[in-house]
Amino acid sequence: MSTLSTIDWRTPQTLVQAHGLPATCYTDAGLAAQERAAVFARSWQFVAHAAQLSQPGDHVVTEVAGTPLLLLRDDSGVLRALHNVCRHRGGPLAIASGSGLRQLRCQYHGWTYDLQGCLRSGPELDAIEGLDRAQTRLPQARAEIWQGLVFVALDPATPALSELVAGIDGRLAEPLDDYVFQRRISYPAACNWKAYVDNYLEGYHVPHIHPELNRLLDYRSYRTECEPWHSLQWSPLDNDASFYGSGTALYYFLWPNTMLNILPGRLQTNRIVPTGVDSCRIDFEYYYRPGLLEAHADRITQDQELAEITQQQDVDICERVQRAFASGSYTVGRVHPTREQGVHHFQELYRAASRAAETGKG
Ligand code: FES
Ligand SMILES: [Fe+2]
Repeated sequence: MSTLSTIDWRTPQTLVQAHGLPATCYTDAGLAAQERAAVFARSWQFVAHAAQLSQPGDHVVTEVAGTPLLLLRDDSGVLRALHNVCRHRGGPLAIASGSGLRQLRCQYHGWTYDLQGCLRSGPELDAIEGLDRAQTRLPQARAEIWQGLVFVALDPATPALSELVAGIDGRLAEPLDDYVFQRRISYPAACNWKAYVDNYLEGYHVPHIHPELNRLLDYRSYRTECEPWHSLQWSPLDNDASFYGSGTALYYFLWPNTMLNILPGRLQTNRIVPTGVDSCRIDFEYYYRPGLLEAHADRITQDQELAEITQQQDVDICERVQRAFASGSYTVGRVHPTREQGVHHFQELYRAASRAAETGKG
């Protein structure tokens, strides 16, 4: 008979019988390297806002699963995610985000491409026998916009972005496309990226870790819903306690590392970027309904102050959990069936991605 320790952690688990992922999933450097291909190169990654790419020549330099990318709006208005890797010897076509690009000139030896990624010219190129300029193109990833958010996928086999976000539009009180960017802030955390995601996906800890936030949310009415590629935690907002009036707080998790925290008139995005097996960076961005910033600066300050307190509390507990995982003491614990469905949902997607990578499928 198999015991818990002999069951492969990749095996699917039902919610009612589920255990969490083993500590090694959070501490094994080899596994962390495999995740790049198994998880990050095979999923939609939130990388920019559409407002940064509205005009031809607008561009954003970024990286997905270790691949340098140059997102741009080309001269015919098409959004492209070109690999920022020159076909000569790998030099970068752009170093920084900005606007006004007319062509792409490699920073290394000056080969020049058009905004479609096709090689046009370069210093003394005619001397290179047989170089076919028309066939020399920068590889391209997929880029799509949803609710003003720009996502990129490296793998052509990744299911469409519309599947990732299926059903969300209908839950929103209003479209988010025209929300205005206000601020970006990054938080380093000494924990594996999955420890941070796990923590995000349950409200079970809110009364214990976040006394300030707990006063604002009605913990008893906190609900979790799981869809194929995303999950939602939501809670009605108490009109008196909320900075934003009545409505619903929606906390969306999009596989594998994007979070959208939506309050009436405000969108806060979180992107969890692994920086090592035991470290990650959490990028927050704040967007507001046009006019809200000017009309309600005080409420926004209060909201962001609470978010700051909450984030420090989350990072602190995640870092403690990471040290526990690394200690060797931790053996897998049970998942709470009504308070941690989101954690189970995420971990099942993670198990599936790991199985697919193992068998070379998916
Ligand atoms: S690496 Fe780009 S021109 Fe040489
Ligand atoms: Fe939290």
